[in-house]
Amino acid sequence: MTIKKYWIEDTKQEDFFSSIDISSTYIPFDPNIGHSPRDILRDLYDLFFRRRVYQFIYKNYFKNLPYKYDYALPAKGFSNKARINWLNRHKKIKDSRVLIIGVGNGYGIPMWLRYQPKEIVGNDILNYEKSFEVVKKESKSIIDIPIKLFQRDIVDLDTKELGTFDIIASEAVFEHARNMEHVAEKCYRLLSTNGVMYASYGGPLWYTWGGDHFSGRDNKNNGFNHLLLEQKEYWEYVKANIKPTFEAELKAGAGGILVKLDLFSKLNSSQYLEIFQKVGFTVKKLVLEFCPIAVEILKNKGIRDRLIAGHPDFTEDDFKCRTHIILLEKTGSN
Ligand SMILES: C[S@@+](CC[C@H](N)C(=O)[O-])C[C@H]1O[C@@H](n2cnc3c(N)ncnc32)[C@H](O)[C@@H]1O
Repeated sequence: MTIKKYWIEDTKQEDFFSSIDISSTYIPFDPNIGHSPRDILRDLYDLFFRRRVYQFIYKNYFKNLPYKYDYALPAKGFSNKARINWLNRHKKIKDSRVLIIGVGNGYGIPMWLRYQPKEIVGNDILNYEKSFEVVKKESKSIIDIPIKLFQRDIVDLDTKELGTFDIIASEAVFEHARNMEHVAEKCYRLLSTNGVMYASYGGPLWYTWGGDHFSGRDNKNNGFNHLLLEQKEYWEYVKANIKPTFEAELKAGAGGILVKLDLFSKLNSSQYLEIFQKVGFTVKKLVLEFCPIAVEILKNKGIRDRLIAGHPDFTEDDFKCRTHIILLEKTGSN
C-alpha cells in the first residue's frame, strides 16, 4: 500500500471549510491552562523583570515603522494568559459579552472563564466540531455561563448581534484573514460603543521569517522562502517538507494546512493599522515583537538584498516585525 504523502495535493480546499474536522486530538483540553506553577512563575518573571528590562532596552527598536508603538520585545514571553490580564486592566471582562473570533479548538477559553464574563461566543471559519463539544461540556466545571461555539467566517457573523459585544478577542487570527478590511469593519460594528478589541496577530506576520508558518522548518536560512521563491519552486519546497498526513501537520502547528488553504492576509504591520484606523478604531495600546531569527538571517547580504529588491517599498523593519499585540477602542457608534 502506498502511503499518501501528498495529501496536500489530494485534498481540496473546500473540504477543509466543510467536512474535515481539524480538532486537535494531541493537545488535551486543560481547565487549568496557563495556571500551572511553572506558568505562574514564568508570567511573574516576565511581568516584573523581563518585560521591564526589554521595555527599557527596546523602547525605540523599530526606527522605520510609520506608526507609534508603546515598546518592542523579542518574540515570546508575553503569554496568552498575561495578555488577557493586560486587556482586563483596560476593560473589565467580568460581566462582559465576549466574542472570540477565529477561536480554533477553543482550548484557551478556560483562561477567559476565570474572569467571569457574562457570555462567550466563539467562531471559526474551519470545522472544529469535536473540540467545541469538549470545551462546552468541560468548561461547566469552571463556571456555568453560556458558551456558544460555531463554524462561521467572521464577516458572516449575525447582523442581529451588531453593537452587542463589550469585548472582541483574537489570537493568531488576523494574519490569516484573507479580507482583513471586511473583517475589521465587521468587528467594529459588532462592538458596543466603548467596546474594546484585543488582538495579537503575527507570530509571525507574513513578511517576516517563517511568515507562511512553514518556511524555515527544514533550515533556518530558508525562512524567507515564501517571499523569495517563485510560485512553482515554492510549492516544490512545501511538498518536500510537508508531513505525511494533515493530522501530523496539526502537530506542526497547522502550518501546512494554512499553506494549502492559502489562509494569509499577506499584509505588513503598517497595513493593519491603516485598516483599523480606516474603519474607525482608536489604538489604545500597541506592543510589538521582533523576530530574533529574522534579525540573524537578515545579516546575510544575499538574502537581505533579494528581499529588499522584491519589496522596494519596505524597510528591514518590515521583515523583522513579527507580532502586534494591540488594544483597539470603538469610541463612536455604528
Ligand atoms: C493560527 S489559528 C489560531 C486559533 C486560536 N485563536 C488559537 O490561538 O489557538 C488561526 C485561526 O483563525 C481562523 N480564521 C482565519 N480566518 C478566519 C475568518 N475569516 N473567520 C473565522 N476564523 C478565521 C482559522 O481557521 C484558524 O482556526
